[in-house]
Amino acid sequence: MVNVKFLGHSCFEIYDEKHRLIIDPFLTDNPLAGEKAENIKVDFILLTHGHADHIGDALDIAKNNNATIIAPFELASYCEKNGAQVHPMHIGGSFAFPFGRVKLTLALHGSAIVTEGNPIYTGNPCGFLIYIQDKVIYHAGDTGLFGDMKLLGELNKIDLAMLPIGDNFVMGIDDAVEAVKMLNPGKVIPMHYNTWDIIKADPEEFCKKIEGLSTECIILSPGKEISI
Ligand code: NI
Ligand code: MN
Repeated sequence: MVNVKFLGHSCFEIYDEKHRLIIDPFLTDNPLAGEKAENIKVDFILLTHGHADHIGDALDIAKNNNATIIAPFELASYCEKNGAQVHPMHIGGSFAFPFGRVKLTLALHGSAIVTEGNPIYTGNPCGFLIYIQDKVIYHAGDTGLFGDMKLLGELNKIDLAMLPIGDNFVMGIDDAVEAVKMLNPGKVIPMHYNTWDIIKADPEEFCKKIEGLSTECIILSPGKEISI
């Protein structure tokens, strides 16, 4: 059994009996965070891109847990320079970690760490396919809709997809509905909405719009989890 816990925004903790990992741990500065960064116990941290609402507390969590950051090469290099253990990857590549295989997927977005208005660019953003036990999990990262999602759906029997619905920076609800049609996941959890007014969206509307498809829509409030 694989457990998936939503911690707000795009942050999910995934764990089974032996392994724990976290994706995009934006907790301290998230007004709707489901956990405090100092309570996170993980072996691996997966980062989709360098924006503050994704890298979040990654460096602190990595140091506190002696955990390894898995990220696109340029972002991994930044994290390594800032004291973290890293495993660099890039889009299209996969690697077998102790918990399972991770493959980096395309994401249509930007990636930079912005301090005082000056961006340090951290390469291309990504999404993740995570193969853990007999499950396939797809975390889209921050992205607009793209047609290759169809290929991801054809090549993988996706058990669970996490898709952004908040619009403005990422897919809005209608594009996320199209993503569900292409990916055909068993379950979908909407993410990246309502953290701030600029990404306000109604997850119930998203679920209503995919009624009739073979995908179960699951809305998780921060701190809640499911088993798949
Ligand atoms: Ni972003
Ligand atoms: Mn974001």
